Amino acid sequence: MDPQAKKVALRAITYGLYVLTAMDGDHVGAAGINWLTQASFEPPLIAVAIKKDNDSHAIVEKTGAFAVNVLAEGQLEIGKAFFRSAKVEGNTINGYQFEPGPETGAPLLVDLPYWFEARTTDSVMRGDHTVFVAEVVNAGVRDESAVPLLLRSTGMNYGG
Ligand SMILES: Cc1cc2nc3c(=O)[nH]c(=O)nc-3n(C[C@H](O)[C@H](O)[C@H](O)COP(=O)(O)O)c2cc1C
Repeated sequence: MDPQAKKVALRAITYGLYVLTAMDGDHVGAAGINWLTQASFEPPLIAVAIKKDNDSHAIVEKTGAFAVNVLAEGQLEIGKAFFRSAKVEGNTINGYQFEPGPETGAPLLVDLPYWFEARTTDSVMRGDHTVFVAEVVNAGVRDESAVPLLLRSTGMNYGG
């Protein structure tokens, strides 16, 4: 395989950009992620790949629950705050206000337009990320007019 072709071709997969959050007592994880997709209508399943050494990985593995907050166009600055470990101060994570998810307690970022909570059903621990399959158990829409942010439009890459 040509490594350059592999990199360029895999980076041609179209992604959004999300903030995945998870909570275990006062231990909070919040990661900017793009490796996420829906994977079943009934039950509503999603699949997400989380890096093994992320704080979020340990919390999702332990609690079996997480939330996904969808970034909108114009919210890259918020996304960038979550490419590092989570720091909670009062009702903010990395400077952005959150409220606990009703079903899982996982933090919901109040500035982001769409969110869903999920409970893991399966995991594939192969390679440097774990693929968690999870059932969506709750969802919310704060601003239906918001257009989801596309990774490609940010000029950033995670993949290849
Ligand atoms: C553009 C971009 C996309 C990313 N996508 C993912 C991803 O899909 N999965 C992942 O585990 N980490 C991803 N990361 C890395 C996490 O954002 C980063 O490791 C974060 O600090 C994890 O926070 P945590 O330790 O609180 O979980 C991405 C980083 C960047 C810059």
